[in-house]
Amino acid sequence: MTAGTDIAVIGGTGLSQMHDLEVLDRRVVATPYGEPSAPVLLGRIGAGRAVFLPRHGAGHTIPPHAINYRANIWALRKLGVERIIAVNAVGGIGPDRGPRTVVVPDQIIDYTWGRDHTFYDGGSGEVAHVDFSEPYSASVRRLILDAGRAAGLTPIDGGTYAATQGPRLETPAEIRRLANDGCNLVGMTGMPEAALAREAGLAYACLAVVVNFAAGQSAEDIHGELAEHLDAGMASVRRLLEHLVPMAQGAADD
Ligand code: HPA
Repeated sequence: MTAGTDIAVIGGTGLSQMHDLEVLDRRVVATPYGEPSAPVLLGRIGAGRAVFLPRHGAGHTIPPHAINYRANIWALRKLGVERIIAVNAVGGIGPDRGPRTVVVPDQIIDYTWGRDHTFYDGGSGEVAHVDFSEPYSASVRRLILDAGRAAGLTPIDGGTYAATQGPRLETPAEIRRLANDGCNLVGMTGMPEAALAREAGLAYACLAVVVNFAAGQSAEDIHGELAEHLDAGMASVRRLLEHLVPMAQGAADD
């Protein structure tokens, strides 16, 4: 890998292409778990270097439950990545989590099922129970929050992300249940990605952008809201990343 490139961005819905990345290299990475979602791009954002992997594939063709999360995390680690910024478009739960709000959650609840969710599946003969009491890296969270402020945004520090199975959206009753559980964000891709990153020893945090009120939280049509706010939400993310990558690494070495 190019020297000094330890930080990766996993792009989600609305960020399958990273136009701000000046691509210097493109790697097809083999893993014991099969193929990652796409070739991994290595390049530069402004004065800093970064790696980019689109979670849903370069053409946004892989649904949340079919993503090969293990291959994605394995591939990034194999390339020498140490820190991951996971970008997630999410639904907001509660009046203070409206569209275009940028949130850096500090907790997560996993409601997904049937996904390959661990590297310790018994195959290696090793049993491990990683500590997940602080599911996101404190230092990567701080980096996202600092970069958000530097970009002129007002990111919310903290929140609980509900990872649902999808691909359908939730019922209002399901969202009420998530709210009762203490969740204020809902998305379909936060897990098992975060737990796999922890198992792999990578520092990982989530940069969530609300693109709609979750089901039953507003009178608006969810798809209408999504269409209205996704691009603007991702424009904020791009601006934040333009600050974050150079902040994370200092100037590139050439
Ligand atoms: N629910 C689940 N995932 C989502 C949503 C939602 O409302 N919006 C964007 N991703």
